[in-house]
Amino acid sequence: MARFIAILVGLFFGVILLWSFGVGLYTWATEEHETTAEHVFYEHPRDAKLPSAGVFGTFDVQQLQRGYKVYKEVCAACHALRHVAFRDLAQLGYSEAQVKAEAATWQVPGVDPNTGEAASRPGLATDYFPSPYPNDIAARAANNNAVPPDLSLITKARHDGSNYVYSLITGYQDQPAALLAQFPDAKTPNGLHYNPYFPNLNIAMAPPLTSDGQVTFDDGSSSTVASMSRDVAAFLTWAAEPTLAKRHQAGWPVVLFLIIASILAYLAYQNVWRNQKH
Ligand code: HEC
Repeated sequence: MARFIAILVGLFFGVILLWSFGVGLYTWATEEHETTAEHVFYEHPRDAKLPSAGVFGTFDVQQLQRGYKVYKEVCAACHALRHVAFRDLAQLGYSEAQVKAEAATWQVPGVDPNTGEAASRPGLATDYFPSPYPNDIAARAANNNAVPPDLSLITKARHDGSNYVYSLITGYQDQPAALLAQFPDAKTPNGLHYNPYFPNLNIAMAPPLTSDGQVTFDDGSSSTVASMSRDVAAFLTWAAEPTLAKRHQAGWPVVLFLIIASILAYLAYQNVWRNQKH
């Protein structure tokens, strides 16, 4: 009797499973798959060929310094970097005095010691990169109703982030005629800019790097739009994970150690169980 009930229960679950599978298959097959301009024209990030990429990747300090300069002179007009402190710049090869001097070139929010009112003061090494706007409302007002996101973690917050930043900055173009022919309603709205690397194809950020030589590099490197974008992508990769190079370096000895430890453990096992039936 118990067996009979068990078979019935099993059968019941089997039928339910088949039924839901059938329903799922039916809806999948008959559902209309709407194609949108984003489906057809979105492009995956191109490889920026950064030295930090890959499991052996490390940072090129000169490149980080150049990227910092691009951030400071261009991106910082709209984007904060609130998880990075000026003292972190020491990792880019600047001395303590240079870091202090660099911090002092920035204005950070402070308090007027005489009146107690909000004021700005030159940055200290312990301050964090300030936001250019007092709040999101001011940021929206200045940017066609879009808030420029904080860039501290952007290379982690987006898929394939380092390459994404590079591709986004170099990816501005005219809206392809083929797109308008296929999707006449998808015209880029006024005030937005067509960019196939941005998930919805139209971004509120105007192209920030438009001409070669926009930023002059202290080390005399060429500053084309592509190289400036690559350098700023490298800098933002560092900002999001300053310990990346260390992590890569620490990983390999650990893997090697584990391999050797496994071999030793196996040999020990063989030795201990020698001549034993098991
Ligand atoms: C004039 C202001 C302005 C400047 C200068 C600027 N941006 Fe932006 N940026 C924006 C705005 C506004 C957005 C939000 C766009 C949106 O959501 O449509 C944005 C968004 C972004 C995003 C995020 C896109 C996403 O996936 O959400 C990245 C990355 C970015 N900017 C990088 C940069 C870099 C790097 C620079 C410097 C080379 C820079 N921006 C300079 C205004 C600016």
